[in-house]
Amino acid sequence: MILPSLFFLSSLLLTNIVSAIYVEEAFISDWQLESIGPYECILGNADHELLIVLSDYDSKTLVSFVNETSGDLLFRQQLDFKAEDAMMANDGSQYVLKDSFGKFFAFDGSSGFPLQDNMTNYQFASTCTPDLSNVRMTENSLKVIDGESQLELFHADLPDSFRSIEFLKTDYIGTLRVLYSTTDAKYVFHSFVNGELQYEWYRDESINNITAHTFIDLPDAVLETISQELSAERKFSNIWEAYLFRAVSDWTRIKKLLKENHYSPGKILTKLMKFDSNISSDKLDVKFGLAKYLVVATSQGRIAALDLKNGNEVWKFDSGLQEILLLEWSAEEKEFLAFAKDGSYSFYSVNNASQPVLRETGSLYDGKINSLSQLNFNEYFVKFETGHKRIISLGNDASNSTVKTFVTDHDSNGVHGYITEEDGNLKNTWQITVEQDEEIVAFSGRESTSVVTLGHALGNRTVLYKYLYPNLASYAVLNVNTGYLYINLIDTVSGELLHTQFHDDKVDGGLPINILFGEYWFSYSYFSTEPIPEQKLVVVELYESLEANQRVSNSSANYNPLQGVHKPQILSKSYFFPEVIRRMAISATKFGITSKAIILELENGQITYISKDILSARRVAESEMTNDDKKQFMAIPYVSTIPINDHFIITHSRSMLVGNNAQLVSIPTNLESTSIVCDIGFDVFCSKISPSGQFDIMSPSFEKGKLLATIIGLVVLCYFLRPSVEASKLKKLWLARD
Ligand SMILES: *[C@@H]1O[C@H](CO)[C@@H](O)[C@H](O)[C@H]1NC(C)=O
Ligand SMILES: *[C@@H]1O[C@H](CO)[C@@H](O)[C@H](O)[C@H]1NC(C)=O
Ligand SMILES: *[C@@H]1O[C@H](CO)[C@@H](O)[C@H](O)[C@H]1NC(C)=O
Repeated sequence: MILPSLFFLSSLLLTNIVSAIYVEEAFISDWQLESIGPYECILGNADHELLIVLSDYDSKTLVSFVNETSGDLLFRQQLDFKAEDAMMANDGSQYVLKDSFGKFFAFDGSSGFPLQDNMTNYQFASTCTPDLSNVRMTENSLKVIDGESQLELFHADLPDSFRSIEFLKTDYIGTLRVLYSTTDAKYVFHSFVNGELQYEWYRDESINNITAHTFIDLPDAVLETISQELSAERKFSNIWEAYLFRAVSDWTRIKKLLKENHYSPGKILTKLMKFDSNISSDKLDVKFGLAKYLVVATSQGRIAALDLKNGNEVWKFDSGLQEILLLEWSAEEKEFLAFAKDGSYSFYSVNNASQPVLRETGSLYDGKINSLSQLNFNEYFVKFETGHKRIISLGNDASNSTVKTFVTDHDSNGVHGYITEEDGNLKNTWQITVEQDEEIVAFSGRESTSVVTLGHALGNRTVLYKYLYPNLASYAVLNVNTGYLYINLIDTVSGELLHTQFHDDKVDGGLPINILFGEYWFSYSYFSTEPIPEQKLVVVELYESLEANQRVSNSSANYNPLQGVHKPQILSKSYFFPEVIRRMAISATKFGITSKAIILELENGQITYISKDILSARRVAESEMTNDDKKQFMAIPYVSTIPINDHFIITHSRSMLVGNNAQLVSIPTNLESTSIVCDIGFDVFCSKISPSGQFDIMSPSFEKGKLLATIIGLVVLCYFLRPSVEASKLKKLWLARD
């Protein structure tokens, strides 16, 4: 009996906290959809059995190498120009691309390395368009004919969805290699030898260049029944009736359980002991909120649902909408909204996460839309291309909103504050405009998260209170002439400037500048060119007071933001970062208890994350730290550089191409420790992170059966040992009396 308990203890000790995805989980809990996009030109390298595909990526050319026998994507290369035309030369050992200025560039045909050839007087003949002179197309078949006799040599069958031939090579004797596209964005390859099909494959290129996305939670059947029962209980006016209802429904459940186990208590007990392994992983995923669909809209107007666990396509359809700007899922209504640039929109209802059904369509008839964002449940803030802005209500209970809402909007020239009016129009309340050669390069409103703690406990058991006023936004203004970067913090209700700081280290406006606003802090990144080129990451933390234990706000009082609020006190620290940061996001968890992490997409296509405790404005040099300071939670001395830790690169060795319009997002799961991170753009990538370790997840080696058996064993042992303990006690008493 002691053995199992020892085993249990040791296994508990061995499961140390895991704070990053390690090798065993790499490529299992994360996935990527690698795309090529619509094929512009296909070159064949028969010697190496390669197809070289040119496509568009961020208005430049992407060169993809595809294995001709299997259709696998071998590697992709992003060029820094747009190729207008291409030619395969020297029997496929090299290919030549022509840019829009008529300049030629040569590359190696199997590795894609640029070749240093003198290309001034080059004889260029495009090989992009397939030679179809001796090919006849009839309905559902393609015939290769003899040039002289006009007789059919052999033929290949084509499907109904056939669109056009993209690539074709034949020797007019018996071999044919053909790649055609279909209307549902598939590229199908067939290879015929002596008129017989030798091999075939297809690549699905329907999901890429994503313009909008949303997440759907799969319904948990158990929770649904419970919530139905609870709402039924609430309908009773008499508490005893409600109690009777609950007793009856619980009794029915017990009866069902007994019946399922053929009225055998032993069976129920054994089931209880090992039920963890019996529940299928799908059910657990639903319970833990890991079962979600990522619904994406592509630039072609296609809407598809991807399983967040593995990236598999669940359903897909053509919406017929052009340039979808917004997808929004409503869990209450079980429907999602797709909104297109031309003002037309559609509601699709989704039952049990199955194929959506079109419920309603409509249009705004107000001209083209620039951007659209959700304000409240079914209210949207719309900016038209004409510059007009309006609040619209869509959906079932589209009604006049009675609540006045403050809306903050920005463009590159200024920040504007509005208040909504009854008819959906907006009244300008304040505005901030920037100078002639200045530009707003980044903007972020404070995220609305649940507040878990009001302050930070310091090492000497005093508290530093966080500044938690919700109506805040920060933005970055760049002076394009001087390279000065100004960072401002404003109150979004009154437009009051609360704090400003600036950097005169010649900021590079050509590289990304990001800003993020968390609970009581904001962080921004920029690339400075003086004194030496460096990526900088700055954090600004807002406190009620920098004096410990001093609280300015009063939680029992109501504040009117229109009458002004007290200003925050600021701590700020600047760090160097070894890589150029392209995008940033804050990790989201269900209750916000887990330490926040800052997720960073780097210029090299990798995604990593760092804990907010590392990116802290309260870090001081070790020599300045008192003994009390060192007792603080996660007290780390200040070091000017935040290093990149390989364990925190969540993309591993993947090569990611997400493009300029990608979105880096983080969404919560039902497990407080775990957050899902997705980068959605040209490619799609998703993974899970646990910034504070997986504190709410049992290790797979945790054996409930053994634990229960040990407890039962110990109870039995106590039962047998008790009489002998009592007897020895008695003997001792007798001895004492002697
Ligand atoms: C292409 O795929 C085939 C079949 O899977 C494989 O045998 C071959 O080695 C691959 N070629 C390359 C260059 O990867
Ligand atoms: C909103 O209310 C105003 C005035 O109360 C009314 O004129 C207008 O028609 C209403 N709009 C809608 C969409 O109900
Ligand atoms: C506690 O520590 C903070 C910061 O280290 C300091 O400002 C404060 O005075 C200390 N309070 C006490 C009571 O020692």
